[in-house]
Amino acid sequence: MTAHTRADLESLPGYVPGRSIPGAVKLASNEVSVGPLPGVVAAIRDAAAGINRYPDNGAAALVDRLAARLDVPPSQLAVGAGSVALCQQLVQATCTPTDEVLFAWRSFEAYPIITQIVGARQRTVPLRTDHTHDLAGMLDAITPATRLVFVCNPNNPTGTAVRRDELVTFLDAVPDGVLVALDEAYHEFVTDPAVPDGMELYRQRENVAVLRTFSKAYGLAALRVGYCVAPEPVATTLRKVSVPFSINSLAQVAALASLDVEDEMLARCRSVAAERDRVGSELIAMGYPVPRSQANFVWLPFGEHTMAFNEHCLEHKVVIRPFSGDGVRITIGDPNENEMALAAAREWQNSDPQGRQPPI
Ligand SMILES: Cc1ncc(COP(=O)(O)O)c(C=O)c1O
Repeated sequence: MTAHTRADLESLPGYVPGRSIPGAVKLASNEVSVGPLPGVVAAIRDAAAGINRYPDNGAAALVDRLAARLDVPPSQLAVGAGSVALCQQLVQATCTPTDEVLFAWRSFEAYPIITQIVGARQRTVPLRTDHTHDLAGMLDAITPATRLVFVCNPNNPTGTAVRRDELVTFLDAVPDGVLVALDEAYHEFVTDPAVPDGMELYRQRENVAVLRTFSKAYGLAALRVGYCVAPEPVATTLRKVSVPFSINSLAQVAALASLDVEDEMLARCRSVAAERDRVGSELIAMGYPVPRSQANFVWLPFGEHTMAFNEHCLEHKVVIRPFSGDGVRITIGDPNENEMALAAAREWQNSDPQGRQPPI
């Protein structure tokens, strides 16, 4: 007897996590390289004795805390096992099999995967040649079947960010009934004042949701906790479609403890952003066409030479994230780790007079 699985999932690509290689520096998953924030490990230790009990399914303490911090009612919040879970819940909450999810491409690689898992249709609009969102093109790509639009801001993997003016123009023109999810997984690393805080736009509209995570700036990637601020009916549906008890109790206390020390988190992000700008400038000075990043990574559009550059970095004990045929994403680590990545980039150019580097 054979078991049946959904035929439409046979073509589903697996999510490709960043690799970890013993002895190499890992600049592949957009994590922060310093440990959790002060007080977090102690809070986890204190809570560990209670793990024989199920977690609070509604994560009430965390929801209340976030609601107060963001100045929204708790009913407009949904907490999830990482914001990637909430991305999937947003598709589940808005789409049936005939409905469409729209996003730029290349963008966060989970969007096509979760759309296919839910069984909805995807529509993509290529990034512009400067690796930024083509919001006018995305507006044109909205059809009567569109239910959800992801705008990843800053965009993973290019680091480019959509500015306030163009986003407002886009949001003003999006038809009724289409939810725009501003995926702000890297929001805390933004330094350009022209890049909006999604919460500003959320407060002025009824068709915007904002996704945030504790994985990146807060340094809790392994614990899996993120949140979505959404209009009440959307947030209610997000909670309904979530897997019960998926936000574990240690993640809940760690997120709360991290919120106690947000000044420290922001100081760390400022250091990462300064390193990002330094690494970006050095790469540009070497001749690499690196777009200005607002996240904790930089993008090198190597095109057909992507996998060769990736191998070169591995030989130099630097694990980066290649996207075959497109480019590589290098996470900003500590200054020593960044120096290793820069040395590999310098060495590639010195050893490669034939010009396999991306075109300027
Ligand atoms: C743009 C974007 N959104 C969401 C996520 C999901 O993060 P997490 O599920 O760890 O919160 C990521 C992770 O890399 C991301 O890059």
